[in-house]
Amino acid sequence: MINIDAHNHVKGKSIYLDDIQELNGTLYALPFDSTVAHAKIKSIDFAAALNHKGIVSILTAKDVTGSNQIGGIIPDEPLFAEDEVHFRGQVIALIVGTSEHHCRQAAKLIKVEYEELPVIVDPREAQAQGKLIVPPRQFKLGDTESAWAKCDHIFEGRSDVNGQEHLYIETQGAYARPKEDESIIISSSTQGPTAVQRMVAQVLGIPMHKIEIDTVRLGGGFGGKEDQATPWAVMVALACQILHKPVKMAMHRMDDMRMTGKRHPYSADFKIGLDKNYKIIAYEVTHYQNAGAAADLSPAVMERTLFHSTNAYFVPNVIAKAYSCKTNLPPNTAFRGFGGPQGKFVIEAAIVKAAESLGISPSVIQKTNLVVDGDELSYGQILQQVEATNTWETCMKSYDYEAQKNRVEAFNKTNTRFKKGLAIQPICFGISFTNTMMNHARALVHIYHDGSVVVSTGGVEMGQGLNTKMLQIVTETFSINANKVRIESTNTLRVANTSPTAASAGADLNGKALQMACNNLLERLKAVAQKEYTDQIIEVKDEMVYANEIKTDITWNALITRAFTQRVALSENAHYATPTIHYDKTKEKGHPFAYHVYGTSIHEVTVDCLKGTYDFDSVNIVHDFGKSMNPTIDNGQIEGGLVQGIGWMTLEEIVFNDQGRLLSNALSTYKVPDIYSVPKQINIQHLETEGHELAIKKSKAVGEPPLMYGIGAYFAIRNAVKAFNPNVDLIINAPYTPEKVLMDLYKK
Ligand code: MTE
Ligand code: HPA
Ligand code: MOS
Repeated sequence: MINIDAHNHVKGKSIYLDDIQELNGTLYALPFDSTVAHAKIKSIDFAAALNHKGIVSILTAKDVTGSNQIGGIIPDEPLFAEDEVHFRGQVIALIVGTSEHHCRQAAKLIKVEYEELPVIVDPREAQAQGKLIVPPRQFKLGDTESAWAKCDHIFEGRSDVNGQEHLYIETQGAYARPKEDESIIISSSTQGPTAVQRMVAQVLGIPMHKIEIDTVRLGGGFGGKEDQATPWAVMVALACQILHKPVKMAMHRMDDMRMTGKRHPYSADFKIGLDKNYKIIAYEVTHYQNAGAAADLSPAVMERTLFHSTNAYFVPNVIAKAYSCKTNLPPNTAFRGFGGPQGKFVIEAAIVKAAESLGISPSVIQKTNLVVDGDELSYGQILQQVEATNTWETCMKSYDYEAQKNRVEAFNKTNTRFKKGLAIQPICFGISFTNTMMNHARALVHIYHDGSVVVSTGGVEMGQGLNTKMLQIVTETFSINANKVRIESTNTLRVANTSPTAASAGADLNGKALQMACNNLLERLKAVAQKEYTDQIIEVKDEMVYANEIKTDITWNALITRAFTQRVALSENAHYATPTIHYDKTKEKGHPFAYHVYGTSIHEVTVDCLKGTYDFDSVNIVHDFGKSMNPTIDNGQIEGGLVQGIGWMTLEEIVFNDQGRLLSNALSTYKVPDIYSVPKQINIQHLETEGHELAIKKSKAVGEPPLMYGIGAYFAIRNAVKAFNPNVDLIINAPYTPEKVLMDLYKK
């Protein structure tokens, strides 16, 4: 099935937040933010701004009717700053006017007097000063202390990895309209409509039932709208409540880049011990997560960093520790992989350090230590149906890695200006929200008496093809044509108490609920036909009823009419909660993931050793999809995730100065991969496996895992640099921008 949005996207007919028809009298809102990273607010003068043409109101913490608090996990984040600001970009007030232009002009007239306080931007410095978001956590397996004695080789080191700007094409935005009895409808570009609803209720001091959140689709979220779509929706809702007018905000790109959090930068210390056969015997890692100025989702992200600290490798003795460090940067947030990529990067760095010291290829260590069935990870989950070695070996064979390696070595012998580098990147990613409580979903299906079907789930379409997958489930379960089915917007009145669409679990959770709802309806419909064909096996195929495999004259529409006239319910609501998963935080042990996704990628890069620039010649992937329910969409997720991962590891460099000011604040200073910088060839081979019972139609979750293939890009470049400048010690600090590559090429 082709992506159901494809035609409308191409024609520009798809509705995003800013395309919603505006009501007469709609007002526009502009957040006014701090220009310093840490300070006491001594005074604010709004007088001139309030007198500016077109300005209706300027709202601050004092205007909040409920609680001025939007922290999701920890209540440590005010909607509007009160007496202090903790990062540049923190919102102090909301300017509301008859046009965005007027608001922007008025913003320039607001005068704030700050008393500046010391600024911390470095997570290690924050940790040293005891500035933590939550207490540190530690995962432990075996006994590293006694294991070091059994190691033939021990290596220690440090790695750093920067954050990443989400750069969803559609910036943050929301549009609130008043309804009857002080209730409000808010269109929000959010991955988590319920999170928005909950916070609007809290800040406005009204029950959740007065708030309707509606989300048609997002122009990308990538985790950046799991939690951080909320404040903007709350602000327009508050203005709507106070002014009794429709109020809209659609953020300017540079405001969005400045005010919102990003992927967490991490710094880490590692120690790895191997025996003489290169088996990893022990691994210790300490992660310093740069959380920014408030918790946001950082504790959950940190948790996933710990879960993925040993990537696709079995290590019998592990201590993985993590600090969530409070700095004066915008609170960092979910981003595709949710801390997992940062965890994996460190063990890859450790393996590379070990391999370089031992004079062997990192692939020897990687291959030797891949997880197999029955292996226990540091958090106690015993792996089953492991495909790590299978994807690795298939990858080596299918793409003839040996020949590629020989070709690259020959190239490097005969070229001085250009050097090639190779790297192999295996991945293993756990599917489920790490917070067990969040792993449930609902779906609502109505069949109208003309035979058409409308479907609502808690899942949000953000470009990942979720709606198409939902449509597939309905058409396949009912055996009806796609034109009979409409997938409706995600709306908190139709499907309540949802988890955000995140953790790559959107299709699994909502799909399973939808499947249950459709199956229940189908059983009822079959019972209607059964009355006419007693004792025969009833089926619906291609919109016709079959009895004992013989086509009857009852069409789908006729069946629905019969059901309706017989007063059979044509609506169904189903609930699905992932079975088998559990986790005990007090012991840091359990079985948090429904299943894991595996894969292996091979990266080939050519570095121009005069300029420091690089081109990715190819990325060859063997990925464990299970039984992909939509190979075109799933391949798209692999390509998109891979390129986003490569961007994170190579070109995309977030720069804050030591005063917490974002210097890479626009697309002119923040470079994302474009058509020229993506790999010249991306090959994706599907590993044909049974799939997993807990994956929707045995089609494994695909949203986040491929991002982590991007890590291979970093180490491929490093290998090319090493081919040019072999005997220097290179630090590990991603992204590997051309600037850093050039410095390393000529490092002495
Ligand atoms: N693909 C597109 N095109 N746009 C997105 O915003 N988000 C990613 C991934 N793929 C995203 C995407 C992230 S962070 C997640 S968690 C999953 O999609 C969410 O959708 P799923 O659970 O349906 O896979
Ligand atoms: N992944 C993504 N988003 C989340 C998670 C997770 O594990 N937990 C809470 N939000
Ligand atoms: Mo994805 S980071 O779980 O929204």
